[in-house]
Amino acid sequence: MLSGSVKISGSKNTALPLMAAGLLADDPVTITNIPSLRDIKTFARVMSVTGAEVIHDPSSHSVTVNAGGLNRTEAPYELVKRMRASFYMLGALLGREGKARVSLPGGCAWGPRPVGLHLDGMKAFGAQIELDEGYVIATAPGGRLPGGKFKMEPSSVGATVNLLLAAVLARGSSRIENAAVEPDVVVFSEMLQNMGAQISGIGTSTLEIQGVDSLAAISFENCADRIELGTFMIAVAIAGTPGQEIVLTHAKPDHLGSSFLDKFRATGTKVEIDGNNVAVTAPEELEPVNVVTDIYPGFPTDLQAQWTVLLACTSGNGKVKETIYPDRFKHIPELRRMGINAIVVGDEVVVEGGGKVQGAQVMSTDLRASVSLVLAGLVATGTTYVQRVYHLDRGYEDLEGKLIRLGADVTRERYDEWADPE
Ligand code: EPZ
Repeated sequence: MLSGSVKISGSKNTALPLMAAGLLADDPVTITNIPSLRDIKTFARVMSVTGAEVIHDPSSHSVTVNAGGLNRTEAPYELVKRMRASFYMLGALLGREGKARVSLPGGCAWGPRPVGLHLDGMKAFGAQIELDEGYVIATAPGGRLPGGKFKMEPSSVGATVNLLLAAVLARGSSRIENAAVEPDVVVFSEMLQNMGAQISGIGTSTLEIQGVDSLAAISFENCADRIELGTFMIAVAIAGTPGQEIVLTHAKPDHLGSSFLDKFRATGTKVEIDGNNVAVTAPEELEPVNVVTDIYPGFPTDLQAQWTVLLACTSGNGKVKETIYPDRFKHIPELRRMGINAIVVGDEVVVEGGGKVQGAQVMSTDLRASVSLVLAGLVATGTTYVQRVYHLDRGYEDLEGKLIRLGADVTRERYDEWADPE
């Protein structure tokens, strides 16, 4: 049974756009509360290819970007294939230099993840886009984008970030309709605004951007990771001592969105929010609660694999419906190997609660799938061996350390930091 408190780290999915924003200024930009993660290291490498100096200091949880020496407008396949968010280089380089050659990311572990909206949006803002041997070559006529209007369908976090990166230094004004309103985009927009970008409508689905000639170097603090927070809340619900509270500190609970909090409380788990502290108390018995993933403030797709494990620990049957990525169920066959009776039917998983969860050798396929295996391991009888944990290291800072401090019996056996995702 878990007990104690855990400090929530800085957000991975916010840190990446904040780092990309650092490329838009000529002088050093410092971002704090950066988690020490494989994806951050990968992105620092991608950014360094341009000649920008990127100093990632895990001990102070900071990244400093000095793009004064930027002399190459390329993001190579070898690095982009490791992490899709490297595609943010397209917007950053197009915005700053008026040109970019960036590898297309290709598919991902659980299915297709298109980037058509990124490209269509940049075309709408006046970029010429060509595809050449797996690379996107983007050019702004006269070196700066004229700007324009683009309506996104569906709303996309990544496309909104990329279009903002491209538009804030444009010659003219731009408008993004049906823009993403996820906290990652809001915090990123606030950083751009602090650098001198002219953006109105932040936090709404319509963003108006008036291009400026230059952006200032600043220091900016990254926000806490909402998905890590949700993951630990689920860990406490399933493996905490009933009636005994565990406090998750340095968190940003309003970034979870209302749906997750409502559904989580409906399981019978007690949640008390006091500023940046979230106290979670496991109930005697968890109630099954169905969820449907959606864009913010809907239930996050990045927490549905973890929710499946929670459902398996309840007293009844429940469902998870995935509307963002209808194929994101690679964890299900692995969870079934642990005795969890979960069945995929179309874009839904039906989970039977109350069964016995047994330790087994299981395989990580992607970040959130792998943490769901760790969660299942917390409640399983016997030992669970989670393989390919480099997926976990992409997005959970010191996961085993945090779990060990809560009293879990977790050991890391081998570690290959640069092993390729398969
Ligand atoms: C971000 O991915 C996150 N990644 C993902 O987290 C997260 O699952 C996702 O947003 C949804 O919240 C990062 O922030 C680095 P999208 P992103 O574009 O931006 C469709 C994790 O585990 N779409 O908002 O790539 C797309 O297929 C990762 O940390 C198009 O149709 O997601 C999906 O259905 C995994 N065309 C929907 O939009 C496009 O050109 C939302 O995807 C782009 C997207």
